[in-house]
Amino acid sequence: MKGLIFIDKISVKLGTLFLITILLIETILFVFLYYGLLSNRIEDETNSLLARGNSHRDVLAKHFEDVTLDHVALMESEAETIVVITDEYNDILVHSDSISDVMMQTINSDRTHTEKGQLIENRWRNKPYMASVSPIYIDDQLKGYVYMFLDTKSIRNVSDRLTFQFLIIGGLSIILTAITVFFLSKFITNPLIRMKKATEHINTGLGTESLDVQRKDELGDLARSIASLSNDLQHLKKERTEFLASIAHELRTPLTYLKGYADFANRSTTDESKRKQYLKIIKEESERLSKLVTALFDLAKIDQHSFSIQKKHVNIVILINEIIEKVRPTFEEKGVKLDLECKDTFYLSVDEERIKQVIINLLDNSLHYTDRGKLVQVKIKEDGHDVIISVMDEGEGIPAEQLRYIWDRLFRVDKSRSRKHGGTGIGLSIAKEIIEKHGGTIEASSVLGKGTIMKIRLKKGEDNCEKDIDC
Ligand SMILES: Nc1ncnc2c1ncn2[C@@H]1O[C@H](COP(=O)(O)OP(=O)(O)OP(=O)(O)O)[C@@H](O)[C@H]1O
Ligand SMILES: [Mg+2]
Repeated sequence: MKGLIFIDKISVKLGTLFLITILLIETILFVFLYYGLLSNRIEDETNSLLARGNSHRDVLAKHFEDVTLDHVALMESEAETIVVITDEYNDILVHSDSISDVMMQTINSDRTHTEKGQLIENRWRNKPYMASVSPIYIDDQLKGYVYMFLDTKSIRNVSDRLTFQFLIIGGLSIILTAITVFFLSKFITNPLIRMKKATEHINTGLGTESLDVQRKDELGDLARSIASLSNDLQHLKKERTEFLASIAHELRTPLTYLKGYADFANRSTTDESKRKQYLKIIKEESERLSKLVTALFDLAKIDQHSFSIQKKHVNIVILINEIIEKVRPTFEEKGVKLDLECKDTFYLSVDEERIKQVIINLLDNSLHYTDRGKLVQVKIKEDGHDVIISVMDEGEGIPAEQLRYIWDRLFRVDKSRSRKHGGTGIGLSIAKEIIEKHGGTIEASSVLGKGTIMKIRLKKGEDNCEKDIDC
């Protein structure tokens, strides 16, 4: 619910931000438009007023006679504008309409004016008239002035109409913008709110059904990512619980043995040979425990990513040869044949100790699941830029349906059997991590009752031309 309020707040924030931005832009544009239109209109009016005055002045400059003066006054009496023509001392000669006091004040006001003519009153908001003056010169001699007046009421009317229209349009656009922004912000934030609700469902264990994973856009991608994360999380949770349960079980069994046999060995009625046998079991179980703890420690390091590999340039054939010679006595003891096949020498850039650990685990597995008289064979060969190391046995094999689980931690096909040889079920999961840390792969194939092949594929190093090993 808190989250929902948070998302809702986001929609309000988003909406307000949109609204303020758009209104700001609209206001700026409207103000520009309003003043642009108005000043254009006023400029048109003032230009035409001056042009009209100048044109009368031009006619009068040629014919400064009573007839012409009357004619000009007559023409203007029919127009919106008013003309007043004075002599050089500003004494009125003719006028088209009645002259008001304000007009007289304008005519008699102190000013300097150019020969071309100019505006002498343009304060259309406060004054009843706008006015221009065009001096009449004949042979460089000032003869009089043509004053033109325009009633500013019409301009004020235009301005009022424009203001009214802009207010209506402004108000309408504010309402429309607010409605658009409201729906837009809802449209944007609604999927987020639904996503939030869906993740809350996931949190409460209701699953990922409410996520809209069918969407084709980025929100669909997000929903799919959340669904996949949630599945991973569920899987991890399940794995962790299972892993902890398995560890508890793995630890409890040897501890029960230890306690039980220690009690037996302690009894005064136990004879010496039995006591020795019990102590031997106690030793074996302690070794198993210590092996399990070491393996778990390796796993913990892998999980913390503090599991480092120190790569060195290694002749893999020599390395495997050494391992084979080391484990050969154990194979001979069980009567299992051990064989190495390779045609060339290969150099790999690997962590010698870690690779040793992997090969020993594979050989150890093969030995334990292969019967007397059967063969375990190690093959090293190249495949393009890779070197393939295979460990093949003629052992009991792994059931097909279990094959993909052998890399899981603590997994053993037959718990009771592998327990007998002290297996913890961690060896292959560590082997996989080690090989993958080297950028390689490890795969298993097996036929039940026939045998198992473990195939490691590693990138070849340089200097593979040396052929100094006879295998
Ligand atoms: N060559 C093989 N033949 C038959 N089964 C095998 C072979 N290799 C592995 N397995 C099966 O896979 C399981 C996992 O092997 P892994 O090496 O991880 O564990 P382990 O050998 O039981 O214990 P650890 O190696 O940790 O001491 C084994 O318990 C066994 O059941
Ligand atoms: Mg093993």
